[in-house]
Amino acid sequence: MVVEPVIPQFAPQLLESLFLDGFCVLDSVLSAEECAGIRQTITHMRAEGEFRPAQIGTGPSKQLRPDIRCDWVSWLGDPIPPALRPVFDQVEKIRMCLNQAWFLGLFRYEAHLTVYPPGSFYAKHVDQFRLVQHRKISCIFYLNENWLPEEGGALVLYNQEGQVLREILPLARRMVLMFADRIPHAVAKTTRERQSVTGWLCSRD
Ligand code: OGA
Ligand code: MN
Repeated sequence: MVVEPVIPQFAPQLLESLFLDGFCVLDSVLSAEECAGIRQTITHMRAEGEFRPAQIGTGPSKQLRPDIRCDWVSWLGDPIPPALRPVFDQVEKIRMCLNQAWFLGLFRYEAHLTVYPPGSFYAKHVDQFRLVQHRKISCIFYLNENWLPEEGGALVLYNQEGQVLREILPLARRMVLMFADRIPHAVAKTTRERQSVTGWLCSRD
């Protein structure tokens, strides 16, 4: 029986790159207008004071460590702001595609809006917590038009030996997916404000 991939335009590239490299870069996800709508929502939510300095760790060990990460985040919960609906719909298709292909048991999506002010960064890390391992696939969707390499802020992926594997610019309409437990990565210091929707496909807790 042939099972149709749920997202025909991305499925072959998505599955092949994730399988071979542990990460995948998808471009031209959503429209420029949809991205602009999300940026407007960020502007609005910031004015309402809905962003907080990001913390590291989980549960009781959660802490502010501006020497490790200095981005600002706003967690997305019900109701999802309408501008974010297209991202959630796209991630839902990816979730079904991965479950269909590999039986990953991906069950829910948790996400926050992220702003890196000029001068901020996130030091090298992996996304899966050591004790709580439900984060399986990291999904980062970028919102920044016309990003230039000299503006910094690249997502830097490393191999297990600590060598740089790839530097990915945070360009609007780009989505990066990676296995949350195996790809060490960092956000290089940015000189320009850098916005994204950062989330994880999770298995049952
Ligand atoms: C993260 C992270 C990368 C990026 O929030 O865990 O690694 O490119 N983000 O924003
Ligand atoms: Mn990360």
